[in-house]
Amino acid sequence: MLIAEQNEITAQWYQRATVRYTPRIIVPDYSDEELIYPLARCAVCEHPLVLERGQATRAFILAQAAYQFLYGVGLLETKFVIQCSLDLLHNQIPGIGEFDKLQALTVIIDEGYHAHVALDYIMQMQHQSGITPLQVPESNHKLDAAARASATLPPAMRPDFQLLAVTLAENVLTEEIATLGRDKGLAQTFTTLMMDHTRDEGRHSGYFADLMKKRWTQLPQATRDQFTQMMPDYLEDFLGTDTTRQFERRILRACKFTPQQIEQIIAESESEFIDLHRQLTQKTRIRLDRLLKQIGVREPDTNTTATAHASDAA
Ligand SMILES: [Fe+2]
Ligand SMILES: [Fe+2]
Repeated sequence: MLIAEQNEITAQWYQRATVRYTPRIIVPDYSDEELIYPLARCAVCEHPLVLERGQATRAFILAQAAYQFLYGVGLLETKFVIQCSLDLLHNQIPGIGEFDKLQALTVIIDEGYHAHVALDYIMQMQHQSGITPLQVPESNHKLDAAARASATLPPAMRPDFQLLAVTLAENVLTEEIATLGRDKGLAQTFTTLMMDHTRDEGRHSGYFADLMKKRWTQLPQATRDQFTQMMPDYLEDFLGTDTTRQFERRILRACKFTPQQIEQIIAESESEFIDLHRQLTQKTRIRLDRLLKQIGVREPDTNTTATAHASDAA
């Protein structure tokens, strides 16, 4: 890359990174009329038993969903993206040049700042609304999926798999927060939080995709074959969800529904839950397939897959 191009990228970070110029997001007086999270992402909210409880219950459920989303994003940033960027900085992946390391540092700074903004928002929201998060997660489905896949690989392949997994995760996250940021029905502070974040994530997505594209051509053929073969199952797991719906059950318990009512609400909202998950993942899957092609990852050879599965079974 030319020096002029590098200077331009660095200058853009100084001018546009949210950590450099955005003021603190202040959560205003709380009102349970305002939606802090999309109703369409809450399968139980439209159930008659929930509706008859009124606005405060709906607001409680949405606040819990928003907290989980924000905590989940923070975990992805602090446990996954920052870790991968530190590994790039410290040569866990060979051949990373100084300029790519400089950008890895901007990612570390940005992600640390995003996690700070999200926790600040949760704490203010909690203070204003009196709604305490039911759980502060230490991991989530996406992180667990990446850890599961990584554990199946020989240690030498793990840093490159982590880079590929982070490249995919950053792409998914960018789209998720951009969609929430465009939702005009949500509380304005929440959409501002999402829009600010999207600006930085667009830059990160491009950085990781370019880096991964370069790295793909340098990987040994055996590593490329391994990643290609595991990708369909990995994406399935990564984009999956908790089908037992434990967190929703927990929220409903906190709303003092009886165990019978909880089972009824869960059962009667099952089709909404499945549709919602399908809607959220279908487009993502298409986008990730396109990104994988751009990186150079092709569809796995079905003959080889069949042979591998046959030998697994044996
Ligand atoms: Fe972020
Ligand atoms: Fe990011």
